[in-house]
Amino acid sequence: MTSQLESLRRHSVIVADTGDIDAIAKFRPQDATTNPSLILKAAQDPRYARIIEAAVSAAGPRAAPGWNEAVMEQLFVGFGREILALVPGRVSTEVDARYSFDTTATERKARRFIDLYEAAGIARQRVLVKIAATWEGVRAAERLERDGIHCNLTLLFSFAQAVACADAGVTLISPFVGRIYDWHRKARGVDDIPPAEDPGVASVTRIYEYYKKFDYYTQVMGASFRKTTQITDLAGCDLLTISPDLLQKLEASTGEVAAKLTVASARSSSAERMPLDEPAFRWQHNDDAMATEKLAEGIRAFDQDAGKLAALIGRLPA
Ligand code: E4P
Repeated sequence: MTSQLESLRRHSVIVADTGDIDAIAKFRPQDATTNPSLILKAAQDPRYARIIEAAVSAAGPRAAPGWNEAVMEQLFVGFGREILALVPGRVSTEVDARYSFDTTATERKARRFIDLYEAAGIARQRVLVKIAATWEGVRAAERLERDGIHCNLTLLFSFAQAVACADAGVTLISPFVGRIYDWHRKARGVDDIPPAEDPGVASVTRIYEYYKKFDYYTQVMGASFRKTTQITDLAGCDLLTISPDLLQKLEASTGEVAAKLTVASARSSSAERMPLDEPAFRWQHNDDAMATEKLAEGIRAFDQDAGKLAALIGRLPA
């Protein structure tokens, strides 16, 4: 019998959402995604101490100004390089959340990551620079894409964010399912929301239909899952990035997974084109309480985890 994971591979590109190199080797995804929280977790795993040691050694003398930031950059790229030795496709490396409202700083950091990858012999086509989908982040991505630096716009919760990313011609977006589900569970005071009413799945479906109906270049990668039904209900989405525990569950479950999202059904959907300038983006995103709260919270949490990683690096023996 086919596993759900094997069946799903026929409909969507499978991506591993982790910094755990061994898990990536086990599940053979096409691509992998990381974020500051995942790198923090992996950096504390003794199996990957070698990556920290290499980052410290590559960052140069400890007394040099900006040493800590240089180690962080080397560490993010170091995990990316190890991952790229295992996957045939791309790795996503995330720009510091503290630059989420600064287009210039986001662009500078993205170019720095690409420089480090290219210095290590890795082509920019194999890297997706992950950027928070704020108005400023989308503008940075628009400029980077013009130079062939491909971007993955993350922390995406509102339809306005998705439209802005598509209009800017970014390579890929990561609309979050689980965090939307978490918000609605909390707001409704319930332990679960049935799959047919899942607001995270509905959000990705709406975005997919809009993109395909109007032939946008940007690809949709469903992210942030809490249960396997959220993944199988999005079978057919361009890509799905999945944590190792859910990859394991999908591998252990048998049965055919049917495509739920198709270009044909998207084309016949009732989606209507939505013109969006900056004031309209800000208004519509702000009008969505869930998206406003989750984007702000997500930026804070990634920044806090990057701070923990910087503190961990600072405590390393000289
Ligand atoms: C991937 O791009 C995201 O960073 C990830 O899926 C977030 O997942 P979480 O909501 O489980 O942290």
